[in-house]
Amino acid sequence: MDRNAKRKIIILVLLTGIIALFHYLTPTEPHDYHKIHIVLRKLYFLPPVMAAAWFGLRGACFTALAVSLLFILHAFLDWPGNYMEQANQVGELAGFWLAAVIPGWLFDRQRSLLRELANANEETLLGLVSALDLRERNTRLHSQRVREYTELLAKRYGVDEKMRREIGFGALLHDVGKIAVPDSILLKPDKLTDEEWQEMRKHPAAGYRIVQRISFLKEAAEVVHAHHERYDGTGYPRGLKGDAIPLGARLFMVADVYDALTSQRPYKPALAHEDAATEIQKQKGTQLDPEVVTTFMAIEPAELLQIAERYHDANSKDNFR
Ligand SMILES: [Fe+2]
Repeated sequence: MDRNAKRKIIILVLLTGIIALFHYLTPTEPHDYHKIHIVLRKLYFLPPVMAAAWFGLRGACFTALAVSLLFILHAFLDWPGNYMEQANQVGELAGFWLAAVIPGWLFDRQRSLLRELANANEETLLGLVSALDLRERNTRLHSQRVREYTELLAKRYGVDEKMRREIGFGALLHDVGKIAVPDSILLKPDKLTDEEWQEMRKHPAAGYRIVQRISFLKEAAEVVHAHHERYDGTGYPRGLKGDAIPLGARLFMVADVYDALTSQRPYKPALAHEDAATEIQKQKGTQLDPEVVTTFMAIEPAELLQIAERYHDANSKDNFR
């Protein structure tokens, strides 16, 4: 169970406890106290509804059960002789369960719809990356590995979950702007001329223009735009320096360099983790953000290996096999 869920359970237990305490302690007579007593009784509806929002149907039913037991115990201790009041209390009990079951079901349904939507988004973006892969082979696996390295690094850096996901999308889509680069340049086996380089260097801005239009990819667009910047300000397209480079891009850069070093390319063999780590250390402060490099160095090599193996091209001779 994560820390957030534990915190929510503690809030529910405390809230239920406080409501029950005041409900038990407030006398039912004289009349003014009775009014407060009735209001406190109504507050028992709150924990099941909150549990429904936080934990769905199961959590809501569990909370309704706890609230019902407290309510029933109070009814026994302070048994109402009046038949009308007895009926009223039974109605109240049924109300707790309705307040748990209906929102619980609705929240569960909403969660599953959101999950479906997230999966659909994910598949669409992977489709976009696969389209690029058809032109420039192996970019999909590279993009998927770099995305996971970036997300892992972002987690260790203390980035929250929502932001991590957005930065991850940016890492996945970083080279999407290459769609705008002509085949004669993108697939040229020889060295590029100066003019060709100029053309190639337009891909971060082209990618930014594509991604920035999608509302849930605003942060991702920043990563795409800045993925060729360098910490010392000598990168492109804007020559941003230090913290002016969006954090997502600074995290991506370390992940990207690591993946490039540990992958085999036609012109170089794949480096082992230790050698890649040494190379990354050398780029501290020049290409790479020193703080991000320090965070990266603290990651267990086995965790990186797991990611590399998940997106491994069976035909390449990368050092992870
Ligand atoms: Fe790029």
